[in-house]
Amino acid sequence: MAGLVMGVLTVLLAILAAWFLFFTRRRREDEPPLENGWLPYLGLAFQFGSNPLEFLRSRQKKYGDAVTCKIAGSYFTFILDPFSYCAVFRNGKNLDFQKFAIETSRKVFGHADFTDPKYNLTYEELHHIFRQTLQGPALHPLTSNMMENLQFVMLRSKTSAWTTEGLYSFTFRIMFEAGYLTLFGKDEKALRDDTERFEAHKVLIHKAMNDFKVFDKAFPLIVAGLPIGIIRGVKAAREALAERLQHKYLKKNSSISALTEQRMRYFDPVPYLDELGKARTHNVMLWASQANTLPATFWSLYYMLRSPEAMQAAKTEVENMLQETNQKSGDAEKPVSFSKDQLDNMPLTNSIISEALRLSSASIMIRIATENFTLTLDSGSKIAIRKGDRVALYPQMVHMDSDIYEDPEEFKFNRFLDENGQKKTTFYKNGRKLKSYLMPFGSGISECPGRFFAVNEIKQFLALVLCYYDMELQGDEALPLDNSRAGLGILQPKQDVLFTYKLKNT
Ligand code: HEM
Ligand SMILES: *[C@@H]1O[C@H](CO)[C@@H](O)[C@H](O)[C@H]1NC(C)=O
Ligand SMILES: *[C@@H]1O[C@H](CO)[C@@H](O)[C@H](O)[C@H]1NC(C)=O
Ligand SMILES: *[C@@H]1O[C@H](CO)[C@@H](O)[C@H](O)[C@H]1NC(C)=O
Repeated sequence: MAGLVMGVLTVLLAILAAWFLFFTRRRREDEPPLENGWLPYLGLAFQFGSNPLEFLRSRQKKYGDAVTCKIAGSYFTFILDPFSYCAVFRNGKNLDFQKFAIETSRKVFGHADFTDPKYNLTYEELHHIFRQTLQGPALHPLTSNMMENLQFVMLRSKTSAWTTEGLYSFTFRIMFEAGYLTLFGKDEKALRDDTERFEAHKVLIHKAMNDFKVFDKAFPLIVAGLPIGIIRGVKAAREALAERLQHKYLKKNSSISALTEQRMRYFDPVPYLDELGKARTHNVMLWASQANTLPATFWSLYYMLRSPEAMQAAKTEVENMLQETNQKSGDAEKPVSFSKDQLDNMPLTNSIISEALRLSSASIMIRIATENFTLTLDSGSKIAIRKGDRVALYPQMVHMDSDIYEDPEEFKFNRFLDENGQKKTTFYKNGRKLKSYLMPFGSGISECPGRFFAVNEIKQFLALVLCYYDMELQGDEALPLDNSRAGLGILQPKQDVLFTYKLKNT
């Protein structure tokens, strides 16, 4: 309660102070067009927030390649021309990503400020761990563990009756548990042959899943600045998630991912960091590895189920792969297995996933200007950026551009296949080849280090449900996106959709 009163008072004071000191920023000659909006402090926050895509499209029509807007106390310069994106990605000297990322992460996850030298931590070292444990050779063990965990969850209930469930709920519970076990390891013996401990495991996962839902639901509000304490139950859920990720628990597990193992080793000797403090940083990994993957997996399966052609093509691809490796689908007693190299060679499934990502991704890329500097756009025009301002890119503008993607609202399962049935990488705007045409994982320095694993696990999921289940989607009206998470990554559906499934001939 005291938190709420303080929050309200702070906001009121901020508004008052802004009125008091009210002076609108004026555009300087070499700067992009400027919109301050009418509201003090908030500026254009509501107009932007209610529909970023429409907001930016209308500005592009009006101003062209770039515009600066005041939003919630900060000035954002949006680069609207996709050919100019690389000018932003390349300019690491004047545009900082870390500061913004760490501030946001601290606010949301409540971990320590690792930029404080007393912790003796560096962002570079943490980044190095991502690359080392989520990419290249590290993908082999990650993939085979995920394969095992997915099957463990899917084949646990061996009833062959038709079951009806929400598609989101189905995807969520399978991917969440499998992903959780893959990242943080498992008590192998308990899962195999000890009923009591197995039941305990199920309770634990169920609780973690619910805590994750509560926390993730409030995520947009906390990012927007609402103190976590004032939304009921959210802080408790976050802390409960972290609680379970303490080293004393993780150390007892086997098949822990290299990512978690190395992070544990890295954080263990850090001074001034208690056990819960370390666990909170692992909670960041839990969120990063699940929050986008879950809806992305949902949309991939949803669009595949809705399109008979996509479904048929995907089945054929999976069947060919089974044949090549002398495996048979549909036998729950003899689980199938695909290696990382085989998964790399599934262009059709890859195209389904890329297309689902294109349609559902709405992330924003933000950098903060460390100096006054000039950004040269693709057209050759130069725009001045002030120190402290944000430079922002909104890739959904590219993903939904009808000049780049014909009928951009439509799901076309083979959109990312070329005429040889291989991955298509040539997309054009105004007749010019475009370099950044699909950016669900961001780009440049902030590009998601888990992107290869993410696509892999979605592929595994799709391949396995095709192997094990007969599936049918209920109803055929198109499912709307929930735009309240625009800016934060993959959008979720507004509501769940029912589907029926059953294990094949068991
Ligand atoms: C479809 C699934 C996923 C999508 C769409 C996605 C997207 C993104 C995006 C857009 C960013 C950059 C955020 C920014 O620019 O501020 C990011 C960062 C990150 N992602 Fe992912 N991600 C996915 C899955 C994963 C998975 C499975 C993992 C790990 C196992 C992961 C780990 C991370 C990490 C650690 C970062 C922060 C990197 C940094 O601090 O620079 N992501 N992700
Ligand atoms: C800081 O960390 C580095 C390696 O990460 C280590 O070699 C060094 O001894 C640490 N310094 C202190 C004061 O703990
Ligand atoms: C094993 O890992 C899980 C996370 O997958 C964790 O919740 C659990 O506490 C760990 N320890 C044991 C003994 O199961
Ligand atoms: C940056 O530019 C602003 C506005 O153009 C100016 O007021 C300020 O003094 C400049 N700062 C530096 C450090 O040059």
